[in-house]
Amino acid sequence: MNNLLHIHSSANLHGSTSRQIGAQLVARLQHTHPGLQVVERDLAKDPLPHIDENFISVIYSDPNHPNLKLSNQLVDELIQADVIVIEAAMYNFGIPSTLKAWIDHVARAGRTFSYGEGGPKGLLTGKKLHLVLGRGGVYSAGPSQAFDFQEPYLKSVLGFLGLTDVEVIRIEGTSMGKTEEALEAARQKVATA
Ligand SMILES: Cc1cc2nc3c(=O)[nH]c(=O)nc-3n(C[C@H](O)[C@H](O)[C@H](O)COP(=O)(O)O)c2cc1C
Repeated sequence: MNNLLHIHSSANLHGSTSRQIGAQLVARLQHTHPGLQVVERDLAKDPLPHIDENFISVIYSDPNHPNLKLSNQLVDELIQADVIVIEAAMYNFGIPSTLKAWIDHVARAGRTFSYGEGGPKGLLTGKKLHLVLGRGGVYSAGPSQAFDFQEPYLKSVLGFLGLTDVEVIRIEGTSMGKTEEALEAARQKVATA
C-alpha cells in the first residue's frame, strides 16, 4: 500500500465531524503504513466544475480530448491510489453536490468501468475504500433508514467502479446532541483500521 487518495467534501471547514475523523483515519493509516503517499482533494475549498456540454460533446468519441483533461487527471488519481478515504457530510439525505460533481468526472466508461458481454465491469479493483460519513440524524437503524441516500448511493456507484472492499465509519446524530458519543465511537473504529 503506497498511495492514498483523501477526498474531503463537508462544506463545514472548521467544525466538521467527517473531516475530523477522516484526518485521524489518514494519520492512523500513515502510522501503520510508513511511507504512504497522500494526495488530497478538498471539494469544498476547491470545487470542481459540473460536467457540461464541452464534456458531453467528446466523452463518447475522444477520451483524450483536452476537454477531458481535468476528468482524466481525477481518474488518474483514483487509479494510482491503493486506498481511498472519502469523507462525506449528509446534505438533504444525500451527498454534497461537490462530491457528486467529482463522481460525474470519475465515472468513465473505458477508464473506471467497462461494458462487456457479461454487462458492466468495475475497473478500479484491488483497492480499499474507507467512507467517513457525518449525518445529523441516525440512519444505520430505525425509522430513518429509508431516507439514507448517502451511504447506499456511495457504496453502489463506487462499487460499480470496482471499489467493493469498503469500510464505513459513521458519525451519526450530530444534530441530536450525540456528537461527542458519535465521535468517540468513530475514534474507536479508527484505532482498529
Ligand atoms: C445544508 C445541510 C443539509 C443537511 N441535511 C441533513 C439531512 O438531510 N439529514 C441529516 O441527518 N442531517 C442533515 N444535515 C446535518 C449534517 O448531516 C450534519 O451536520 C453532519 O454532521 C454533517 O457532516 P460534517 O459534520 O462532516 O459536516 C444537514 C446539514 C446541512 C448544513
